[in-house]
Amino acid sequence: MLTDQSIIIDSRVNGVYTMHRGVEEIMATNIIALNHVKKSFGRTQALKDVTFTLPAGQVLGFLGPNGAGKSTTIRILLGMLKRDGGDATVFGEDPWHNDLAIHPRIAYIPGDVYLWPNLTGGEIIDLLLRLNGQDHNPKTDALMKAFEFDPKKKARAYSKGNRQKVALIAALSQDAELYIFDEPTSGLDPLNELTFQQEVRKLKKAGKTVLLSSHILSEVEKMCDAIVIIRDGAIIEQGNLDQLRHLSRLRIQVQTEQPLSALKQQTGVFDWHENDSHLQANFAVDHDALTAVMNALTPLGIVDLQSTPPTLEDLFLHYYSDQGVSSHVTQ
Ligand SMILES: Nc1ncnc2c1ncn2[C@@H]1O[C@H](COP(=O)(O)OP(=O)(O)O)[C@@H](O)[C@H]1O
Ligand SMILES: [Mg+2]
Repeated sequence: MLTDQSIIIDSRVNGVYTMHRGVEEIMATNIIALNHVKKSFGRTQALKDVTFTLPAGQVLGFLGPNGAGKSTTIRILLGMLKRDGGDATVFGEDPWHNDLAIHPRIAYIPGDVYLWPNLTGGEIIDLLLRLNGQDHNPKTDALMKAFEFDPKKKARAYSKGNRQKVALIAALSQDAELYIFDEPTSGLDPLNELTFQQEVRKLKKAGKTVLLSSHILSEVEKMCDAIVIIRDGAIIEQGNLDQLRHLSRLRIQVQTEQPLSALKQQTGVFDWHENDSHLQANFAVDHDALTAVMNALTPLGIVDLQSTPPTLEDLFLHYYSDQGVSSHVTQ
């Protein structure tokens, strides 16, 4: 399943695995490549085994619960932290040794946005741009408008959402090759989240490469070509959206006027629970089967219906309770 590992194993010469050549090849052909990266803080092993690649022009969702190791991985990629083991390259360079070479090509939004309290939001945006060798440009103004951001207030008066907007506007108005967003929408209201999603789509159209970390499955699903899932410092799943289709099942809670038990047999329906009256059920459904399921429900008289996207926690429960799926776990 790990494409990079299959390349490593394919590059076998006379029965000897030429691991190194395989790794070098992967590192040279991807914007980001991580190979068995490890990192500890004292006794905390934050990263145990992080291996994934990000090819040019792709939007990759980097998904995992709080404390899984997303920010640590990103800091290693930016050369802010030194890894203890494994290989890491960004634009083919080792970020720890060549951070100055890669930084001008990257726009980054940190997970914890720190702002100078006595400057206004507008001043900070311009300062962040200048620190990256860029200037306030028409896109900066367009973004301020799109995010309904008031640049004149001092940063100390800003809410978490407004601090996040400062970082978003500064990063998105840069012209970079690689955009790294560490939980960029935390604290944003839903309208601004939509604006952010539109901006990511524009980056994708322009052929940019994006790494987007999040702990919310439904959020990355909307914008990403592929997803990598990290848990307890190790990558447990990766693939494109089609390969990860089983992650996107909706959970439906429904109440009907007539018994609904027959629906259990419907294609695309999973994890069925119903009450004794057979008038209420809770189940998961594939997106592809949604229309058929709704068509089957309607004649029964829908009294109430709720649908919720799966959360990461649902997914992990599914993983560790289902032996069939645990074969996907890469150790
Ligand atoms: N500078 C640090 N010192 C000590 N422990 C850290 C440090 N940074 C991260 N950690 C620990 O490493 C683990 C991964 O953290 P982090 O990468 O921030 O996770 P995420 O971004 O996925 O929420 C956590 O257990 C966290 O407490
Ligand atoms: Mg983090």
